[in-house]
Amino acid sequence: MCGIVGYVGGKEAYPILISGLKRLEYRGYDSAGIAVLSPDGLAVRKCKGRVSDLEAHVNGTPMPGTTGIGHTRWATHGEPNDVNAHPHVSANGDLALIHNGIIENYAPLKEELISRGYRFKSETDTEVLVHLIDDIQRKEGTDLPESVRLALENVVGAYAIVVMDRKHPGMLVAARKSSPLVIGIGEEGDHYLASDATPIVEHTRNVVYMEDGEIAILDKEHGLRIRNIKNQEKHPSIQALEIQLEALEKGGFEHFMLKEIYEQPRSIRDSMRGRLNLAQSDIVLGGIKDYEKRMVNAKRILIVACGTSWHAGMVGEYLFEEFARIPVEVEYASEFRYRNPVINEEDIVIAISQSGETADTLAAIELAKGRGATIIGICNVVGSSIARVTHAGSYTHAGPEIGVASTKAFTAQVTLLTLMALMIGHRKGTINGAKFQQLLMELDAIPAKVERVLKTEAQVKYISEIYKDARNALYLGRGYSFPVALEGALKLKEISYIHAEGYPAAEMKHGPIALIDEEMPVIVIATQGASYEKVVSNIQEVKARKGKVIAIVTEGDTVVKGIADHVIEIPDTADALVPLLAVVPLQLFSYHVAVMRGCNVDQPRNLAKSVTVE
Ligand code: F6R
Repeated sequence: MCGIVGYVGGKEAYPILISGLKRLEYRGYDSAGIAVLSPDGLAVRKCKGRVSDLEAHVNGTPMPGTTGIGHTRWATHGEPNDVNAHPHVSANGDLALIHNGIIENYAPLKEELISRGYRFKSETDTEVLVHLIDDIQRKEGTDLPESVRLALENVVGAYAIVVMDRKHPGMLVAARKSSPLVIGIGEEGDHYLASDATPIVEHTRNVVYMEDGEIAILDKEHGLRIRNIKNQEKHPSIQALEIQLEALEKGGFEHFMLKEIYEQPRSIRDSMRGRLNLAQSDIVLGGIKDYEKRMVNAKRILIVACGTSWHAGMVGEYLFEEFARIPVEVEYASEFRYRNPVINEEDIVIAISQSGETADTLAAIELAKGRGATIIGICNVVGSSIARVTHAGSYTHAGPEIGVASTKAFTAQVTLLTLMALMIGHRKGTINGAKFQQLLMELDAIPAKVERVLKTEAQVKYISEIYKDARNALYLGRGYSFPVALEGALKLKEISYIHAEGYPAAEMKHGPIALIDEEMPVIVIATQGASYEKVVSNIQEVKARKGKVIAIVTEGDTVVKGIADHVIEIPDTADALVPLLAVVPLQLFSYHVAVMRGCNVDQPRNLAKSVTVE
């Protein structure tokens, strides 16, 4: 949430900052702004809207200078407008600051600053920081890094900030607590800063992931220095970035979301690569090898996650219970952390997060870790905060997910959970050898089957045209398909703004059936498997009330074809693997409905990727 970029070095800052903001726009798009320092002073341009609006606002007027910062905002305090846009500037015009996070004690700090004569222009919590740093500089006579450090000693909350000062040209000071920041180290004194590595990769592959409580000083002349909040020097640990630049482009697709839906055969394959060994009938997850025994002996697994990742976690519950015979509880991270849950040292907590930065999931991890549980992470973003705070974990290897609506991350998470559950079941002996081998073969065949599902796109598009004006939609599924129904409903509502609900198919008769009328599309996952007949009965119940049924069925199905209004066929697979196939037409359906309704598919209203505030 909120994207931050910074540059200091020998090049013109503005083009670097603008292209960086475009890469980070998925983190928030309520307003955007840039500040550049030149020998003539500090130039600031900011406005409500997207980065393209900022470009239009700058309108070719040069912003020369080789030190600068940029911000794209997801509003927390204060509506999205020009004044609340970052950067915020001190009263004397010397300091400019950008911030991602929430300053929780901003109200008393603001009151105190006002009582000492500071005037606030915006409604943001952020503006407090710039006046506070300015105040310390005046009172203490300290330089910029020390003033930032002293200011942060007074601050409660989460932040990633970058500050520059007209009195210190050629320097950026950055600090982080619970919000991510990555530093890129280029050639000849060039330094980059960003909320994630995507704006940095085109300039350098050498990065330093900042840790909580660190303050970084990026200096054109003296290079990079890192201190902690207690002013102790730290040695920066430089890592090599592995992201490929093409992964950050649309590659000929109209939207990132569509590209990412189509990437799934590859991303699922990448999640299994080097882990699923068909020849030796084995699964090896290097990242959790040292914790395998503890997982095998676990009396209970807790899964914590949010949104789509929580839906993947629900699939994980079914998988671990079926194959490893371990009881599982799937928790919304945001609820888990506030209800004093019972956790003990034998518990395994699996934290799932695409971004690896979700504030609620991070807080749930800290809580469980504090009570002695073992934390296993499933993250997509390499080097992310969650990946670093967990005891062990496995990356999903889905590649950067830019579309705000999560697609390929979900299938990669489910793939990894499948590998984990099968591996633990195999080690534990709760799944027999023949079944294990058969499931490995089925899993190995999934990428090719997803390719086949993608061929239904034209048909899905045709169905989307019919239902694009619906006001409500119901998604039904049973067993492994229930989380898929939840995920399908979330996809539709978040990008097309149609109210949609996911339900266990059999629960429909306990309430939601009252909603069904001739207008209501009911999307049912009715593939062959343990509950097929029951779900067919549920479809009959919908049809008896004149509801419109769109059914996802197994190839060759004739029964549902005779009842439903539309059927979309997917290849046959094991029950446990159906989510990996059945979710794909639902992703395509929400995509096409949203496009037909003229919605901004990659950047839906009010949302942002990487939710770094509570
Ligand atoms: C929905 C979506 C969100 C995320 C949720 C958790 O399409 O993207 O619901 O799944 O914000 O994010 P991560 O997985 O980054 O922790």
